[in-house]
Parts: sequence; structure tokens; C-alpha cells
Amino acid sequence: MADEINPWSSNQAIDVEKLFSEFGIEPIGPALSDLPEIPYFMRRGIVVGQRDYRQIATAIRDKTPFHILTGFMPSGHPHLGHLMVMKEVVWHVQQGGNGYVTIADREAHAVRGTPWEKCRELGKEYLSCLYALGFEGTTYFQSRNERLKDLAFEAATKVNFSELTAIYGFSPETDLAHAESVITQVADILYPQVDRAPAPTLVPVGIDQDPHIRLTRGVAHKMRMFTVEERDGYVSVRSKNAPDAALNAVHKAFAGSKKYEGHVDIRGLPCADVSQKVRSIEIAHGGFGFFTPSSTYHIFMPGLTGGKMSSSIPESTISFYEPEATMRKKVMSGITGGRMTLEEQKRLGGEPDKCSLYLLNLFHMVTDDLELAGIRSNCVSGAITCGQCKKDTAERVVSFMKDFREKMDAAAEKIEV
Ligand code: TRP
Ligand code: SF4
Repeated sequence: MADEINPWSSNQAIDVEKLFSEFGIEPIGPALSDLPEIPYFMRRGIVVGQRDYRQIATAIRDKTPFHILTGFMPSGHPHLGHLMVMKEVVWHVQQGGNGYVTIADREAHAVRGTPWEKCRELGKEYLSCLYALGFEGTTYFQSRNERLKDLAFEAATKVNFSELTAIYGFSPETDLAHAESVITQVADILYPQVDRAPAPTLVPVGIDQDPHIRLTRGVAHKMRMFTVEERDGYVSVRSKNAPDAALNAVHKAFAGSKKYEGHVDIRGLPCADVSQKVRSIEIAHGGFGFFTPSSTYHIFMPGLTGGKMSSSIPESTISFYEPEATMRKKVMSGITGGRMTLEEQKRLGGEPDKCSLYLLNLFHMVTDDLELAGIRSNCVSGAITCGQCKKDTAERVVSFMKDFREKMDAAAEKIEV
């Protein structure tokens, strides 16, 4: 049964696996066992990878605090390509996460040259989309969040230019604002733990954002006073830059522990218990006590024109305020996985994994798994023509957009920026 309703292997996933082995991203599957319910974007192979997702799944199961955060660069209108991350955020909020969304206007201004006023307008559109999907939580614009900027400055003490060059390929010609927008994103990811309290934090992103995740995970670690490590038969708590009083407090907190120069060794306790206590001591002594952020990675929905879906290629995507006729036209001229002739289509069937419209249905337009499986099997068996399938998809898109726009408009009234 599971196989029948889970026919969503996609060619993209194979390349993705290669990417994973290079960068140490883990597949999502094994991290899901604690989840009470698996959301469709994980079931359907859209979200494929993760770092440390297990601590999020456990928090959901145990109903303990966690944060969920993502960001949008307001350099173009939001479109279908942005919906996936938004839905991931909303789902995790519904599972008990504290929601945070940052509008990366500093990044848009620094990297794309978007004027501030435009950033504000576009940022508001992203927020309308989020609220239309049911988002609840904290939102902010980078440029207007003073505490974020302070945190970015503090984080900047842990990053040097050779690291930026290694991760992003920055050169001596890269302007300083670009580097600042990077460190601002690091601060975005750590912000919920400063704004509220240290807790596991999930950042759902497309694979292209992984460099930021790697950098931030490194910085979060460097900003800790202590490292806690399981050794052979004991737990070692090492000071990186902890004040003496904090290391003494660790020693005092664990009866029978041994204190040495710069570290305390503790026997007979699970590492997780020690970690928790050490974190609270760190916080009591003015430290950040950060949890290393977790991330998930989704594959990209291909553009209707075949390549990337991007607002800079208008035919590749559909924005939320497009006239109905244009929407239909774009869907009808979308790249499919159909064959050259009708005869071939009937004989060989279509190739849904190569079809931008199938993937549009898989990502957003068909919520029912069985209905989607039906579309897939009709395609593969040649029982349906692309012409008909496109028309059906166009209908779904038009009605989805109509409904979504109404929700966006209702949400927009409530947003003040
Ligand atoms: N850099 C992201 C983009 O290009 C936007 C962003 C800013 C972001 N801060 C973030 C994404 C924090 C995730 C988490 O779209
Ligand atoms: Fe795509 Fe539908 Fe054609 Fe299959 S039948 S290739 S899903 S348009």
C-alpha cells in the first residue's frame, strides 16, 4: 500500500544525493521516526535532506519548545517557487514551533541593489502570502531590527574573510555590504534563541542556502562558552572562553566531578543531561547557550519553461496577481514530459518526473495523495494526453490562485510595515 501511494521518486533526487555526500547533509527519512504525523512535503520526496532534524522531531513529539525560522529576500514579487518553504514554516508552527520570518531587505539592497522603499513593498507581499497560509509568529525587516544588528556584530567576531572566501568565493572585490548581509543572515538564524530562549531551531531552505547554514552552525558553536563531549566512560565539559566563575559553577553542579585546567570531567551521567545543565549555567553567566540550528532541504520546483523558476524569467513562474488568462496560457505552454507524437504517448506513456506540470501538481496543486497517484499512473500508462492533463492543471491553478489571492488580500489589511 505504502508503495502504491508513494510513487514520487524524482530524477532530481539522485543528483541531490550526490550533493549530500559532498556536504554531509543527511537524508530526511531516518530522522522522521519521532514525528506523530509526516507532512506531505516529506512523504512526497520534496523535502529530501536535513541536518540535525531529529532534535526538532523529538521536540514536536515531546511538546518541548522549538523555533522555526526562514527568510525571504524582497528583490522580486513572491511567486509559486516561494510557497514550499512557507508551507514548511506554517506546518511546524502548527506542530508547536515558535514562528519567525525575516524579510532580508539588507540582503536585497546589498546584493541586488533593491531600493529600500521597494523592499518594503515587496516584503509586505511575502508577509501577506505567509499569513494567507496561516502563519503565526514574529516577523521583521532586517534593516529595522536593532537587536538583530547587534547580534550580527557579535557573530561577526567569529568569522574572518578567508572563511567567507572559502564558503562563498568572495574576492577582494566583493563589497563589504555583501559580507554584512551574510552575517545578518547568520544573526537571523540565531535570533529566535536570543529573542525568546535557547531552543532547537529549524531553518527549512532550498539546497542553495546550505552555505549559510554551515556558516551559522559553525558560528553558533564558536559563540558557546563550553563544548560538551562524550568520552570513553565520562563526559568532558571544556571551556572555550568561559569566565572562571562559570567553569567553577559547572564543577559545583556535578557532585564528584573533577576540575582540571580548562575542563571538568563528569562520570555516571548521560551526555544529554550534562549538556542541558551546562547550557543553563552558561546562560546564567551571560552566555548565549545556543543550540546548533537544524535545517531541512527541499528540491526546487522546476520552472514552467524547463530551467529555474525565477521572477526574472516571467514565463517560468506564476505570480499571485497575474490575470487568469495569463495563468492559463503559462500552464498550457509549460514544458511536459510528453512524447513527440500522440501515438508514442499512447504506446510509451509520459515521463512525469521530467514534467514541470506534474511537479507543480505534486508540490502544490493536488493535496490528495491518491489523486496524485492517479495522475501519475494515467501519465505513465499513456491513458491521458498532455493536452487534457494541462487543461486540468490550469483549472487547478486558477482556482488555487483565486482562493489564495483572497486570503492574501485579507491578510494584507492586517500587516503594518
Ligand atoms: N538568503 C535568503 C534568500 O536568498 C533569505 C534569508 C535571509 C534567509 N535570512 C534568512 C533564509 C534566514 C533562511 C534563514 O532567499
Ligand atoms: Fe505531464 Fe500530464 Fe503530460 Fe504526464 S500527461 S507528461 S503529467 S502533462
